[in-house]
Amino acid sequence: MNWVYLLSFVTTCLAAAAKAPAPTGPTIADIQGPGFQSPLLGQTVHNVTGLVTAKGPNGFWIAGDKVADTRISTGVYVFSSTVLDQVAVGDKISLSARVTEYRSKTAPNDLFLTELELPGNITVLSQNNAVKPVVLGKDRSPPTESLTPLDAGPDGFLSVPNNQTQLEAVNPTLQPEYYGLDFWESLEGQLVQIKKPVALGFGNNFGDFWVRGDWKVTGQNSRGGLTLAFGMLSPGPIIQTGTDCGAPTSGNKNTLDANPEAIIIGSPLDKSKNPGVALGTTLEDFTGVVTYQFGFYYILPTTALAVKKAPKTDAVKPTSLKSKPKQDCSITFGDYNVRDMYEASLLYNLTPLLQIENLAPDSAHLPDIANHISQYLKTPDIVFVQEVQDNSGPTNDGTVSANVTLTNLVNAIAVASGVQYRFVDIAPVDGKDGGIPGGNIRQAYLYNPDKLELAPGSPVGGSLDAVSVVVPPNKVIKLNYNPGRIDPTNEAWNSSRKPLVAQWQTPKGQKLFTINLHLASKGGSSSTQGNARPPVNSPLAARTSQISLVSSFVESVLSADKNANIIVAGDFNEFTQTRALFKPLTDVLTDIDEAAGIDPVERYSYVFDQNSQQLDHAFISKALKKRSVAFDHIHINTWAPSLAERISDHDPSVGQVELC
Ligand SMILES: *[C@@H]1O[C@H](CO)[C@@H](O)[C@H](O)[C@H]1NC(C)=O
Ligand SMILES: *[C@@H]1O[C@H](CO)[C@@H](O)[C@H](O)[C@H]1NC(C)=O
Ligand SMILES: *[C@@H]1O[C@H](CO)[C@@H](O)[C@H](O)[C@H]1NC(C)=O
Ligand SMILES: *[C@@H]1O[C@H](CO)[C@@H](O)[C@H](O)[C@H]1NC(C)=O
Ligand SMILES: *[C@@H]1O[C@H](CO)[C@@H](O)[C@H](O)[C@H]1NC(C)=O
Repeated sequence: MNWVYLLSFVTTCLAAAAKAPAPTGPTIADIQGPGFQSPLLGQTVHNVTGLVTAKGPNGFWIAGDKVADTRISTGVYVFSSTVLDQVAVGDKISLSARVTEYRSKTAPNDLFLTELELPGNITVLSQNNAVKPVVLGKDRSPPTESLTPLDAGPDGFLSVPNNQTQLEAVNPTLQPEYYGLDFWESLEGQLVQIKKPVALGFGNNFGDFWVRGDWKVTGQNSRGGLTLAFGMLSPGPIIQTGTDCGAPTSGNKNTLDANPEAIIIGSPLDKSKNPGVALGTTLEDFTGVVTYQFGFYYILPTTALAVKKAPKTDAVKPTSLKSKPKQDCSITFGDYNVRDMYEASLLYNLTPLLQIENLAPDSAHLPDIANHISQYLKTPDIVFVQEVQDNSGPTNDGTVSANVTLTNLVNAIAVASGVQYRFVDIAPVDGKDGGIPGGNIRQAYLYNPDKLELAPGSPVGGSLDAVSVVVPPNKVIKLNYNPGRIDPTNEAWNSSRKPLVAQWQTPKGQKLFTINLHLASKGGSSSTQGNARPPVNSPLAARTSQISLVSSFVESVLSADKNANIIVAGDFNEFTQTRALFKPLTDVLTDIDEAAGIDPVERYSYVFDQNSQQLDHAFISKALKKRSVAFDHIHINTWAPSLAERISDHDPSVGQVELC
């Protein structure tokens, strides 16, 4: 008899001896039940048996016997630091505890986590049992489109109005094969394995990042990320969210693809540190437990993930859309939110964690922006920029002029490219346009005077002057102010940037109207995996009014000249998939991504949570749409190798239109 044989003999006998009395209390499946909350909430349960699958700093996870019902999790978290040293991974134990639903008092919009608290009577029944994770992609696979049937409405979680129901008040029975929140809830407390993980964006400052694994995904883009889009992209049956909690109906290609197949990875249980990752980083297989914290379902890995391969660093190519000679009707335009935001936080409402640096005269990233415009955007004839600060940067000293900031930018571009842009902007009233106090951020145009000039004959508008269209007797329409701001005293623009309208003229006399906008930011929005359904999209009312005002202005131009050349571009802080909000604009203009036939999964300018998503858009009038149109997303920032090397949190873009 060798030692190995002897050891296994002894272990087997001990396990057999311990098995004899087998007192049974409720199973873990009984505790979890088929809904979000435990049917045994508030009860003290005795003789609960389970296998210890993982240990963390403040508790451990136990698993009961498997059940056939996939709605029911057979894992649960035991919250306690005091009994931690009585158990080891692989122990089969029994315990008494109280069933609770936990959420932090400071996070009322979080979902509850079912857990056992105040554990006692811990008996180790046997040791060194094999611990087997649920293999995701093999044993269970997440659905790929919708989050919850409670997001009733044509735009899924982006439907309006928001917060019509609260998930925990409804506590629906889970439908894990159709809905993402239900799927992850049905694994809450279980040990899972993820194979072939791919990072869906940078990590946050805690080292948490989103991944997809070796299972079916929809909306995958060429970098490996998951794009927020409509479900027309998915090859398989598509699920439409119902208006109640009944079974969903399938086959609607208008279902929003909310990417519920992605999951965020939290801090490793052994206190090691996750590596830095970027969009498309591949990682080694890993194991962890499913939990809910900070507004999202998470997997806490047993130990830090290991990077397999970083994505290519030289994949971003300069645009092929180049400025054409002077006498050509073709105009190229760029769009760039030049803000540097270098400490992304997980939630919009964690804004104190964000370090925002808008473009100031002495910004460290100003030469990088100039290089991007020169090398990657190829100095378009006109550039729409957003988040340009005044001459004193973030210093709150009453300065509003940004001529030094913009001079520094155009001079840096001239050094990098030889193109000497001119610029135009309208200074806001001090402190009235939102952003960092004292920064007075605004939109501006950079333009190449060889290709375009402001159409003559109108004065430059002041910060409170409302721009309008003038139709003189000769019928050649112009603006009362050029440039001018749209309805700047309308309260829809409280603490927000007023759109900058300009009319341009080429050497051949062709005309173009442009509107450069930067709508109210999403600060204060609620988690996509939180209690409020659909989630709160803040400030929805303001952004809706803002779009209406812009659309009305566009309509006023089109009613004076239905063949007007119009480009509306900038940072909308909104997805076109929020269709209800965009409707007034899409009624009168066309999304240039549509007109140029850009693949929907490649339409993104930003990565937030798991989603590659588009906040920056360009819309064009019918006159432009019917001629040749081209558009190019330049993923210079979303594809950066690390957060530190990213220059702005937005990607720039380049478009080309024909004015005649
Ligand atoms: C739990 O098990 C013990 C034996 O270990 C037994 O005495 C007790 O009655 C059981 N309690 C319940 C509530 O089943
Ligand atoms: C231990 O079990 C006994 C009965 O089985 C129960 O009365 C006691 O409250 C339990 N202890 C804890 C800490 O739950
Ligand atoms: C959603 O509405 C409920 C009920 O009015 C309210 O208590 C809750 O605070 C709202 N949630 C959010 C995130 O605004
Ligand atoms: C900025 O504008 C002020 C006031 O008109 C002017 O004195 C100054 O020379 C300008 N600076 C630059 C760099 O254009
Ligand atoms: C805008 O600001 C004004 C003045 O501070 C205030 O009276 C008004 O209620 C605000 N409107 C909105 C929609 O926030």
